[in-house]
Amino acid sequence: MEKPTPETAALPVEPLWYKDAIIYQLHVRSFYDSNADGVGDFRGLVQKLDYIQELGATALWLLPFYPSPLRDDGYDIADYTNVNPAYGTLDDFKTFLTEAHRRKLRVITELVLNHTSDQHSWFREARRSQNDPRRHWYVWSDTDEEYRDARIIFTDTEMSNWAWDPVSKQYYWHRFFSHQPDLNYDNSEVREAVWEVMKFWLEMGVDGFRLDAVPYLVEREGTNCENLPETHAVLQFLRQRLDEHYPDRMFLAEANQWPSDVLAYFSNGDECHMAFHFPLMPRIFMAVKLEDRKPIVEIQEHTPAIPDACQWAIFLRNHDELTLEMVTDEERDYMYDAYTTDPAMRLNVGIRRRLAPLLDGDRKRIELMNGLLMSLPGTPIIYYGDEIGMGDNIFLGDRNGVRTPMQWTGGWTAGFSRSDPERLYSPPVSNELYNPKIVNVDSQSRSEHSLLAWTKRLIRTRKLSRVFSRGKMEFLSPANHRVLAYVRTLGNETVLVVNNLASCAQAVELDLRRFKGAIPTEMSGGSVFPRIGELPYLLTVGSYQFYWFRLRRL
Ligand code: NOJ
Repeated sequence: MEKPTPETAALPVEPLWYKDAIIYQLHVRSFYDSNADGVGDFRGLVQKLDYIQELGATALWLLPFYPSPLRDDGYDIADYTNVNPAYGTLDDFKTFLTEAHRRKLRVITELVLNHTSDQHSWFREARRSQNDPRRHWYVWSDTDEEYRDARIIFTDTEMSNWAWDPVSKQYYWHRFFSHQPDLNYDNSEVREAVWEVMKFWLEMGVDGFRLDAVPYLVEREGTNCENLPETHAVLQFLRQRLDEHYPDRMFLAEANQWPSDVLAYFSNGDECHMAFHFPLMPRIFMAVKLEDRKPIVEIQEHTPAIPDACQWAIFLRNHDELTLEMVTDEERDYMYDAYTTDPAMRLNVGIRRRLAPLLDGDRKRIELMNGLLMSLPGTPIIYYGDEIGMGDNIFLGDRNGVRTPMQWTGGWTAGFSRSDPERLYSPPVSNELYNPKIVNVDSQSRSEHSLLAWTKRLIRTRKLSRVFSRGKMEFLSPANHRVLAYVRTLGNETVLVVNNLASCAQAVELDLRRFKGAIPTEMSGGSVFPRIGELPYLLTVGSYQFYWFRLRRL
């Protein structure tokens, strides 16, 4: 089949681009406002693409930008094939896509498959009557008794996964907010309609989709309605279509599940190309707090191998709460204890905070965490603003506290908009530690020592070798458990990573005999370390310090 020409300038075909990507996640609404109405927009985003490119990112993941009542920040889609007028027009989107591609930035958009907004025309039609032709696009019942084994996800707001529709006098099924009715994937019309939506954006040139909430597509009595074979069949159907027509595009699965269950979303390399590694994320925080490598080593050892063309997506923070669903009860208690000093920091089963405040603004720990993000297996995702250490506002309700305007300058609107500050879609963070005067891109661009400058160097260093994006990983097991050390290898290239998870300096003896004769070169500065011999290799690592060494045989 001939490849259709996208409507916007496309990047050269490179089927595994997502494996080597550095993804920058952002919300159009929060990034930059070009027309002074207080809301970020596509034209504004275009003006900031150079910033993202200079950071070193190679792909953007945009949060939902479709028309929506915004009761779940756009994850309640009212029209899949349009742009929310507050953010611009379809033409603005196309211009953005062309401009992103011109800078070699791939674009990943959101596709919320599981549900629509109750304002979507599909649902409005479906609820007109029980006999409406659209009725079976959603899941209805005369009682609220079915699928009792399915858990409730938004535990702070929802009492049931069923909601009563007073118009058509039946209950409808929803896994998230009650204004987000689930689509009925047993209906082939729905599957075809969703493929049409995908095609619409693929034709335009979008490079990939983050598939929201994929475990919940299909319901079956007597199950927990997650990860069902029927759900995988839907995804494989979509993937087949994708491969037939658009071979270099990508599916990223949002499946907040254990790695053994996520494995099924890769299938034999014929379902999703990528999936988030949810359980790793809280364990990175746990390991650093405990000053012990165990949580990270344990979860990685329970992470099965995945097909060659597939890749994990790894992250420290995102637009949601730091989810604690994929930890044990004890671990959850520990995380709440360690990371929530105020009850307002908790939401659902998680913690609504950004990276910098979670780490008490401690630059060393922020660097260590980013070092882990960039050196553990997977494609790293940076949440907008974390590269400058932005703070949060836990009093804004729901997850809005981590979705505040990007801080470009020290002005009243954080340089995000030319509007009056009170017009902004959200107040910028204003506390003493993280307000725009203290944390902003402008000032950090002037200093080689800023977090921003440091992050750029880290990304540049990661890009020196594909060992990080494609290589295998093997843990070393030195006696000092405060040190997490691993070897990444790809072909004849080897990188040794040594992380001190502790707040004070550590000495560590590494068994590197199999690399005897190799000379470690520290990758960020190029310093040469003593040649590896027979004896344990002794290193001292400062508080929260980490090293990446290239091992070269000379
Ligand atoms: C997962 C998204 O990340 C979250 O923000 C959203 O609320 C739910 N899916 C429901 O769409």
